[in-house]
Amino acid sequence: MEFQSVLENRRSVRAFRPDALSQEQIDRLLRAACLAPVGSALYRDVHITVVRDQEKLLKLCEAAWKRFSSVEVVREIAGEADTDPEAGVRRPNLFYGASVVFFLSHRRQTLQPGIEWANVTAVAEQMHLAAVDMGLGSCFMWGALESMRMFPELDHTELLRLPADFEPLLGLAVGYAADAPKKERPQREIGVDYI
Ligand SMILES: Cc1cc2nc3c(=O)[nH]c(=O)nc-3n(C[C@H](O)[C@H](O)[C@H](O)COP(=O)(O)O)c2cc1C
Repeated sequence: MEFQSVLENRRSVRAFRPDALSQEQIDRLLRAACLAPVGSALYRDVHITVVRDQEKLLKLCEAAWKRFSSVEVVREIAGEADTDPEAGVRRPNLFYGASVVFFLSHRRQTLQPGIEWANVTAVAEQMHLAAVDMGLGSCFMWGALESMRMFPELDHTELLRLPADFEPLLGLAVGYAADAPKKERPQREIGVDYI
């Protein structure tokens, strides 16, 4: 796909068909991840867990179910995002039924605090755009992972079999979009100053 079309067609997909992705598709997404910029080229500080097991994904939702306990909480957290707040409290699959979720983890930082977030975001965005190019849909996953950090007792991190000293920061749910994209995009503005 032409690059500008990738940018224009990118959107957060929140409903997926159950069809599995092929290993080739997963490899292409992982290749996109490895091509992302990472601070000081410390690629060894980033770790990706590819989760296809739907039962495990539901287990990982348990902390999020506790976090999104009321419509008000969901509304406050989701803000203007195109989500159904009622769905947030109906014990939904926080990963929207995606056939694969990439969990992006990072080595805990002391030297350059904050760089772990920038790194996983750079990696996730690269994969998000690659998914568009491959005709797939994807969605960043913050809520579920934040909940996992908030409720350590429900953070089934051992399910991710993470290397010691790594913590899951961001996810990317990927699959075939269940619905056609809405035609209209809401008007968006990001403040810009020229100095
Ligand atoms: C860092 C980050 C975290 C996000 N976390 C979530 C999430 O947990 N769940 C979700 O449904 N969408 C999540 N999103 C998607 C945003 O809500 C979405 O990008 C925004 O509403 C704009 O819509 P669009 O991506 O369709 O253009 C996240 C996006 C970013 C950049």
